[in-house]
Amino acid sequence: MKVAILSGSVYGTAEELARYAESRLKAAGLEAWHKSALTLEELQAFAPQALLCITATTGMGELPDNLQPLYFALRDRLPNWRGLPGAILALGDSSYADTFCGGGELVNELYEELGIHQVLPMLRLDASESADPQGDAEPWLDELIVQLQALQSQN
Ligand SMILES: Cc1cc2nc3c(=O)[nH]c(=O)nc-3n(C[C@H](O)[C@H](O)[C@H](O)COP(=O)(O)O)c2cc1C
Repeated sequence: MKVAILSGSVYGTAEELARYAESRLKAAGLEAWHKSALTLEELQAFAPQALLCITATTGMGELPDNLQPLYFALRDRLPNWRGLPGAILALGDSSYADTFCGGGELVNELYEELGIHQVLPMLRLDASESADPQGDAEPWLDELIVQLQALQSQN
């Protein structure tokens, strides 16, 4: 299964996590692909069979600059990805209260618009609670792999 990993990052945490997720998914036999600042054309050329978005939040609930062009292109062009499996890993900081993981929430709305089916609930990681996003993401990534492998074996 071809899994595209999208990332939005300002200081590199989400980027690093995306590279880690790519290596974990590949080790599990999935054809994972991560590239930062991906364009819609590159993404469509890859022809993803699943989408994983790993994004931080910046400003007051905004997406990082390196994910915004793809986000707006997807919203404008709405490719026909209805039913595509997807997942979202959101990084944030609960001290931002109302905009906690706002970037992930924006991607959540986009997935809904596109009809992407989330195979497990969005994971929200809180930088004010833990300094080990990789360790915190581990069980969620394991579950994602199980879900994607199950879908792969049905096809
Ligand atoms: C200027 C700035 C604004 C931020 N705004 C938010 C926010 O609105 N909501 C939130 O949950 N986290 C916010 N954060 C926290 C980051 O999303 C969080 O620290 C994240 O782990 C950073 O990931 P990165 O290293 O990939 O950029 C903000 C951080 C900075 C520095």
